[in-house]
This record gives sequence, structure tokens and C-alpha cells, in this order.
Amino acid sequence: MSMETTFSIIKPNAMKKNAIGGIINKFESQGLKIAAAKLTQLSKEKAEEFYSEHKERPFFGELVTFMTSAPVMLMALHGENAISKNREIMGATNPSEAAAGTIRAEYGDNVGENAVHGSDSPESAQRELNLFFEKNEICNC
Ligand code: GTP
Ligand code: MG
Repeated sequence: MSMETTFSIIKPNAMKKNAIGGIINKFESQGLKIAAAKLTQLSKEKAEEFYSEHKERPFFGELVTFMTSAPVMLMALHGENAISKNREIMGATNPSEAAAGTIRAEYGDNVGENAVHGSDSPESAQRELNLFFEKNEICNC
């Protein structure tokens, strides 16, 4: 077991359905602490940089348009094995395949509008946290 910090986004479709409280409740009740949080609307440039690993994929344009369509909530989540735990709590990328009780099963609409993002490795967590937070904005809780 190791303590980790991971990066999470509550995506525009979940923000529009007032799901912040429901989503944060799943993190907190399953052992993840909110170590930083910011509400913002992403610029096209920032969304493209964030998702640059997907830039050759056919859905890239659609993904960037969706992610910039409304405000999002950016978070640092802290806890034991936070990276894999967050992905378990989120559920499968496609909400129709996500296990019951996961965030994507509850709040996801389709494979694009799937309610949340979560870093997939320690390297991506570091890159993504650095993209959106200053070191002193993440609490050591
Ligand atoms: P993230 O936590 O958002 O990175 O999701 P993931 O790691 O479960 O999936 P992946 O990194 O493979 O894809 C990144 C994001 O691209 C997904 O969360 C979806 O929002 C979007 N995406 C993936 N596949 C499709 C697709 O077929 N169509 C559309 N429109 N979006 C997709
Ligand atoms: Mg991913």
C-alpha cells in the first residue's frame, strides 16, 4: 500500500446535472480525500494539451468540444493507492459497461460524456496535476 495523489475532473455533463456532491461523496466515503479543488471552464488550448495523447483518435475534436462546453471541477485526490482506487470508483470508460454503484454507471451518459476523468498511472497523475495546480495549492492532508 502506498499513499498517492491522483488527478480527477468532474466533466461538463455531470456538472450540468448537479452531481458534484454525489460524486465527492463516493470519493470521501471510499477513503479518498479532496486535497485540492478548482471550478473552471477549460480553454480549447488547455483541453487539447490535457488530452494530447488522444490527438490522433477520431473522437479527439468531439472530446475537446465537450470538455470545453461548460465548467468542470478539477481535483487532487489523496489516499492509499489513490490512482487505482479512483479508477475503481469511476467504473469503466463506457457507462453502459460500468459496474453498478460506480460514478460512471450513475452519472455517465455515453462513452464521451462519461462524468469523470481519473489519471491512469503515477506518471500521468504527476503530469496532469502539474498542468492544473501549483504545488502549494495541494494540501498535505
Ligand atoms: P479518462 O479518465 O477520461 O482518461 O477516461 P479513460 O482513461 O477511462 O479512457 P481513455 O483515456 O481511453 O479515453 C479518454 C476519454 O476519451 C474518455 O474518458 C472519453 O471521454 C473519451 N472517449 C473514449 N472513447 C471515446 C469514443 O469512442 N467516443 C467519444 N466521443 N469519446 C471517447
Ligand atoms: Mg485516460
